Amino acid sequence: MRSLSSKVLLVGSGGREDAIATKLQESGAEIYAAMANKNPSILRYARASLIARETDWDKILDFAILNKVDLAFIGPDPVLATPLVDSLNDKGVPTASPSMGAARIETDKIFMRNLLQKHGVPGGVLNKSFSSEKECTEWISTYGKDFVVKPKGLTGGKGVKVMGDHFSSWQEGLNYALELVKRDGSVLIEERLAGEEFSLQAFSDGTTLAAMPLAQDYKRAYEGDSGPNTGGMGSITDSDHLLPFINKKARDDAFDILRQASIALRKEGYPFKGVMYGQFMLTASGVRLIEINARFADPEGINVLSILQDNLLDILFGVANGTLSNRIDFLKKATVLRYVVPIGYGSQPRPGRLSLDPLQDESTKIYYAAVNGSLSSVEMTSSRSIAIVGIADSIPDAARKVDSASSLVHGEYYMRRDIGTAEMLAGKIARFKN
Ligand code: AMP
Ligand code: GLY
Repeated sequence: MRSLSSKVLLVGSGGREDAIATKLQESGAEIYAAMANKNPSILRYARASLIARETDWDKILDFAILNKVDLAFIGPDPVLATPLVDSLNDKGVPTASPSMGAARIETDKIFMRNLLQKHGVPGGVLNKSFSSEKECTEWISTYGKDFVVKPKGLTGGKGVKVMGDHFSSWQEGLNYALELVKRDGSVLIEERLAGEEFSLQAFSDGTTLAAMPLAQDYKRAYEGDSGPNTGGMGSITDSDHLLPFINKKARDDAFDILRQASIALRKEGYPFKGVMYGQFMLTASGVRLIEINARFADPEGINVLSILQDNLLDILFGVANGTLSNRIDFLKKATVLRYVVPIGYGSQPRPGRLSLDPLQDESTKIYYAAVNGSLSSVEMTSSRSIAIVGIADSIPDAARKVDSASSLVHGEYYMRRDIGTAEMLAGKIARFKN
């Protein structure tokens, strides 16, 4: 168990990490923050901070050891592809994040598909990986259906190309696939699925999984789900912890896929400790797995953390020590999150300065992301700036809270105003019923 005051290393400096820091602070943790930018909100909670590239794992390791932290938690995916977690574990520091081997479920998409196939995990997708340009060319030129081209490694949400969305002919898709074989040595090709996407996150201690509310992420830069893919412009959750267009059966099937994936990892000698974040698609033939990530989602992690009722520090110790409860409580409320981003985000961002008035409403939260400065005045970077979360009984009511809170943010910025509106939901529900 944890001691009265526990020192926690938190790596990351985005909106997701601000939400984690907020909950850790409420849970009584002393935060030691390793950050790429001087996030003013995390800084106010931190006992000490290290400003360094988040992949400079040896500097972060020294910072953790010097400060004698009792627990470590990693926010961003690129850190999971470094030896940080394994090195912390070697030094006796418990971590609530996966080892490099277990994180391959996210950091190596070919490993993920092969592992799930080998262990007969349901929800699979027709897929092929190639390291030979000749074999890749032969297969794609005779496949005859729409396909998706995926780099094997991390892409920051921007490297996956879908036929019909990002390229229109098999020849264009093939060119991209061959570019990846040259660059990375291999490429993953998948059948193109059609349906409604959703996210399910679960804490895992290697054996026990505890589910969080379902969420939906809006990756496209512009309203009406158009424009380039981004790291995520916003996300929603509903008060029953399902979604208006995703029912309990689909949620249970998705949870079963995560559970079986964690068993497969354990059998291969890589028990997964941390947050498993599954991206799924509900298709005409049931729930299919798009991806499993090895961390909280950004933004969906922020939605669920905003309504987490249990003590996050206790949960993370449970994850690290193998004593996680299989039930974690979340408020029965809907949440809508929208990111404030620089004008041109997704293509040619033009970051400026924002000023922020203090929040008055308890059921609205503001989290700081890739910004520097103070709580009342921030310098944007080229990435996402501020996450505004509304919490209410229904998704449209939560969206209205975001609308009113956005009047507290001054300066030149862009925000997708359609996320969580009744009009957007009506379109999705109509498709779901057909
Ligand atoms: P990822 O970077 O793997 O999360 O993929 C980015 C987006 O590409 C996903 O959110 C999906 O919208 C889309 N995508 C990935 N794999 C597939 C697939 N097999 N079929 C259709 N869309 C996909
Ligand atoms: N929601 C997208 C991501 O966290 O990768």
